[in-house]
Amino acid sequence: MRRPLVAGNWKMNGLAASIVELDLMIKDCPATLAARIDLLVCPPFTLIEEFAAAAAGSSVMIGAQDCHPKPSGAHTGDISAEMLKDSGARAVIVGHSERRADHGEQDALVRAKAEAARRAGLIAIICVGETLAEREAGRTLEVVGRQLSGSVPDGATGEEVVIAYEPVWAIGTGKTPTVADIAEVHGLIRRELSARFGEAAGQSIRVLYGGSVKPENARTLLQAQDVDGALVGGASLKARDFLAIAEAYL
Ligand code: 13P
Repeated sequence: MRRPLVAGNWKMNGLAASIVELDLMIKDCPATLAARIDLLVCPPFTLIEEFAAAAAGSSVMIGAQDCHPKPSGAHTGDISAEMLKDSGARAVIVGHSERRADHGEQDALVRAKAEAARRAGLIAIICVGETLAEREAGRTLEVVGRQLSGSVPDGATGEEVVIAYEPVWAIGTGKTPTVADIAEVHGLIRRELSARFGEAAGQSIRVLYGGSVKPENARTLLQAQDVDGALVGGASLKARDFLAIAEAYL
């Protein structure tokens, strides 16, 4: 059985004062929920260390939103997976569509970042997803399949890799795919993972849905076949909304 994961991606949001939201998430998370699912919050780099200290021993894990593939060196402004681990992060998002779009990140680089996460002992949350033009051209499965095979490192297991399916057109728009559309893509991802890594490893890897997940739609979206949790953007900034989404698993 895969343990559900509800992860918050804070993107470029959050200042020191935002720790009140993390404190509320920790304080208000029902014990019955914490017993059933993993909760992860990925703030900007600047808050990781403080958040990790505040969340130590709680049911909330802290993660990051990106890393450099190399452990150290002359890469001004970059942060390595080892640095994230050292700051108390347990996971890192790689290949988010905003990084693919804003920084031209390609599958090979995303894969190298996921390998860096493994090297540092972090869970890599590897993002894939089609644009609206690709969906309208009927190319969703082809695009997601290609991103998956190019971005996931060899030898992946559920201990160290999570996949997040985030249709680009659903991010921050309030639009979501139908449950049937989500199930179709997650089904493809599950089949590809099992074909490449073997049935046991393929079945152990969690596949999250992301894109306009809100308290109002979480129960419906998270019930879709082969969905093991959510990667939440905007609604993860407020403890009340983030917990309300996670409570779909109660
Ligand atoms: P929203 O939940 O704001 O649509 O963002 C989704 C996302 O990109 C999470 O990584």
